[in-house]
Amino acid sequence: MIPPKPAPRPEKVTLRQYVKLFRKDLLSAQPAKLYRAWMAEFRTPFFRSYMINQPSLVKTVLKERPDDFPKSQRVSEGLKPLLGESVFLTNGEVWKRQRRIIDPAFEGGRLRDTFPAMWAASEAAVTRLDGHVGQVVEIEEETSHAAADVIFRTLFSIPIEHEVAGKVFDEFRTYQRSAPIVNLGAFLPLPRWFPRFFRKDTKRTAASIRGLITQLTEERMQAIQAGEAPDDLATKIMTTVDPETGKSFDTNEMVDQVAIFFLAGHETSASALAWTLYLCALFPEWQEKIAEEAADLIEDFSAVSKLKISRDVFREALRLYPPVPMMVREATCPEHFRDRDIAVGSQVVISPWHLHRQERLWDNPDGFDPMRWQTDNGKQCMREAYVPFSAGSRVCTGAGFAMVEGVLMLSMILKHFRITPVGDAPVPIAHLTVRSRDGINLRLERRF
Ligand code: HEM
Repeated sequence: MIPPKPAPRPEKVTLRQYVKLFRKDLLSAQPAKLYRAWMAEFRTPFFRSYMINQPSLVKTVLKERPDDFPKSQRVSEGLKPLLGESVFLTNGEVWKRQRRIIDPAFEGGRLRDTFPAMWAASEAAVTRLDGHVGQVVEIEEETSHAAADVIFRTLFSIPIEHEVAGKVFDEFRTYQRSAPIVNLGAFLPLPRWFPRFFRKDTKRTAASIRGLITQLTEERMQAIQAGEAPDDLATKIMTTVDPETGKSFDTNEMVDQVAIFFLAGHETSASALAWTLYLCALFPEWQEKIAEEAADLIEDFSAVSKLKISRDVFREALRLYPPVPMMVREATCPEHFRDRDIAVGSQVVISPWHLHRQERLWDNPDGFDPMRWQTDNGKQCMREAYVPFSAGSRVCTGAGFAMVEGVLMLSMILKHFRITPVGDAPVPIAHLTVRSRDGINLRLERRF
């Protein structure tokens, strides 16, 4: 049985049809041949986009010469009202300085410190789900709640029930419904001077979210100055001094970073966990294995590294449904990729979605096979064609964090519940992240 994959579009479509398909969904706007192509070109009247789907090219762009391929400003535009000058959008020296301050908060040792907060959030998720036993639940809704809880607990030491945290969470959901799709600008034939329209409600919601985050950040700044701040990620980041400039973030800069931690940290983890649970419901032998492995799980950071089955399953879900389906960079020097000249200003698209299913590289590319990571093909592809967190200097700051969170949540949930799919198979579509068009419905039973 092959887990859901969007139906590709016909080979030949007009630009107009393409734009229409694209507006509907990024994934089904692409033709089937992209799963076999090493590279593809999209021509628009104003600029060119190239999708690269060959490991050596992806390596050049992400790992070997990242400074020559900065983040595309076309893509950033859609997120500016919310994220301002956050590390997700900046380039060059500003970005480098921001990473120097943020990265230490996510190092291995700090992960151990954030573990109790993740554990508490996992327990809270199990308690919430317990209220739905015997019922059908829309699991993306639940995983969003759980991932938002993890972020607030680890960043600000507050649970999602906290008044401000709850408000931020609700406003983000409104934002998602009104915000444009992240990657749209990279493919659409709009010239750079063309005005980008933000709907009024998008701007209003962004302002409201930023207002709430400012409140949290200002309160924290005062607590730090009074020597009363809890030892969490926010305190760590706000008290870290950039070794090169001797400066730390001021409140405004910190608001931008908190906004991206919240967005990048909860949207993605929620998507990953929802698809992983769906796959476990579809392939019940795997949920039994995970439940068995988790039977003796206790609150101990080092115990997570022993959840090997859970990790293999989570990894496989990130391969099939990478939460960030595409990343866009801009060529700043003339390049020659394969037999094509790439002009300055061209968009270079790296698609984890396509690379993870590249038919010339992966055995059984569309199949669900958590055992693959033990095979030679799986190991090689993991090194060369697996980038759910991107790669190189711009790799996801939260990659280690997300792997602990995802594996822990998965094991905790399946330790307590048996899940079965309900209704039609979910249809993956790309919004901010890869989501299901009509939600993912699962029936929940208690294990004991
Ligand atoms: C399963 C969960 C996650 C996935 C799949 C994921 C994936 C990614 C990817 C692919 C990028 C690169 C995007 C690009 O270059 O266009 C990224 C960047 C980023 N992620 Fe994550 N992420 C996850 C969880 C998290 C968490 C939990 C946090 C923080 C708490 C986080 C914070 C960030 C930040 C700050 C960046 C920007 C890094 C930069 O541009 O220098 N992510 N993530």
